[in-house]
Amino acid sequence: MLTKERIEQEIEYVYNKILDNLDTFETKVPKAVSTDYVYPAVENEDWTDGFWIGMLHLAQSYRFDERIQQVITKQLAVFKQRLDDEVVLNHHDIGFLYSLSAVADYRENKTASSRELALRAADVLMRRYDETAKIFQAWGDVSDSEQQGRMIIDCNMNLPLLYFASDETGDATYRTAAENHVKLAQKYLIREDYSTFHTFYMDIKTGQPRYGATAQGFSDGSCWARGQAWGIYGFPISYTHIGDASLLESASHLADYYLAHLPADKIAYWDLVFTEGSTEERDTSASSITVCGLLELAKQLPLTDTRRTRYEQAAGDILTSLFNYTTKDYPESNGLLVQGVYSKPGNLGVDECTTWGDYFYFEALIRMVKSWSTYW
Ligand code: GLY
Repeated sequence: MLTKERIEQEIEYVYNKILDNLDTFETKVPKAVSTDYVYPAVENEDWTDGFWIGMLHLAQSYRFDERIQQVITKQLAVFKQRLDDEVVLNHHDIGFLYSLSAVADYRENKTASSRELALRAADVLMRRYDETAKIFQAWGDVSDSEQQGRMIIDCNMNLPLLYFASDETGDATYRTAAENHVKLAQKYLIREDYSTFHTFYMDIKTGQPRYGATAQGFSDGSCWARGQAWGIYGFPISYTHIGDASLLESASHLADYYLAHLPADKIAYWDLVFTEGSTEERDTSASSITVCGLLELAKQLPLTDTRRTRYEQAAGDILTSLFNYTTKDYPESNGLLVQGVYSKPGNLGVDECTTWGDYFYFEALIRMVKSWSTYW
C-alpha cells in the first residue's frame, strides 16, 4: 500500500539528488535527456530548461534551503537574459520555460521582477497565435509554410502562461487566444475513440481543419503515450482557468483510454499501440505526467463523482510502480527516473532520464503529500 511515509522517503531521495546537483547546474542546466543516465551541463537554450528550476521551486515549497534559493536566483537571471536576447524562443514551449521559472517564482515568492518576466514571455508566445486558424503554431518560424497552422497536444501545457498574463494584467486577449486554442485542440486532436493525434494542421487561410499527423509517435494513426499524457494533464489545467467542464470530460475519456492500454505494471510503452509483452521501450515520463494529470482531474471533478477515487487510485498505482524505475540502482546517475523516451522515431533519448519526466515525478510526489499551489 502506498503510504505517506513511503512517499516522503522518495521525496528525500529526490531532494538529496537536487542538493547533489546544485553545483553542476548553478547557471547551466541539465541537457534535455541524459546519456547513460547522466545529464551533461549545457547552456539554457532548449525547450526543456525550465524543468530544473521547476524542481528547485518544488523543493523549496517542501523545505526551504538557502543553497537552493541562491541557485534559483542565478537561474532566473539566465532566464531573463534568454528572453532579452531571444535565445531559441521561436517555438511554443515558452510556456513550459517561463511557467516553471518566472510564474513559479512569482507564485512562491511574489517577486515583482518574475511577474514582469512572465508577462514579457507571454507577449513573445502571443506572436505565434494565428488569428484565422485560432491556434498557436507549435514549431518553426511563423512564416514557415511547412509549419503554419500546426498545433500539437503538448501545447496544452504552454497555455497556463497566457492565463497568468490575463489574470495579472486584466487584458483578456491572452485568455481568449488560449481558450480558442484549447477548444480546437479538444475538437481536432482528440479522435473518436479518445486516443489523440500528436499534431494537427489547420488551414491558416480559411481556419478549416486539415489533417492529423504524428511527430514522435509510432504512426499517424497510433497514440503517442506522452501526447496522451499531455492531454490528460493539460485539459484539466485549462478547465481551472476557463471553467469549461467539457474539458474535464475530455480529460476523463483520455485517461480511460490511457489506463486501458497499459501493460501489467502500469508503466506505458512509448506508444500506446504497444501492449503487455512488447519489446519496445517504456516511457516513464508519460507515466509521471499522467500521475499529475490524474490527480488534477480527480481534484477538479465534483465531490460526488465516483471517478475521483478511481483516478486517485490509478495515480497511486502508477506512482508506486514508478518507484521501481528510479536511478537508485545507478549511483553515478544525476537523474531520477530511468527508461524515459524523448523520440523513438528520431532515435533521440531512448531509455534515458528525461528532464520533464524527472520534474513531473517530483511534482507528483509533492502533490501526494501537501496542498501544492500550482505553477500551471
Ligand atoms: N513537448 C515535447 C515532448 O514532449 O517531447
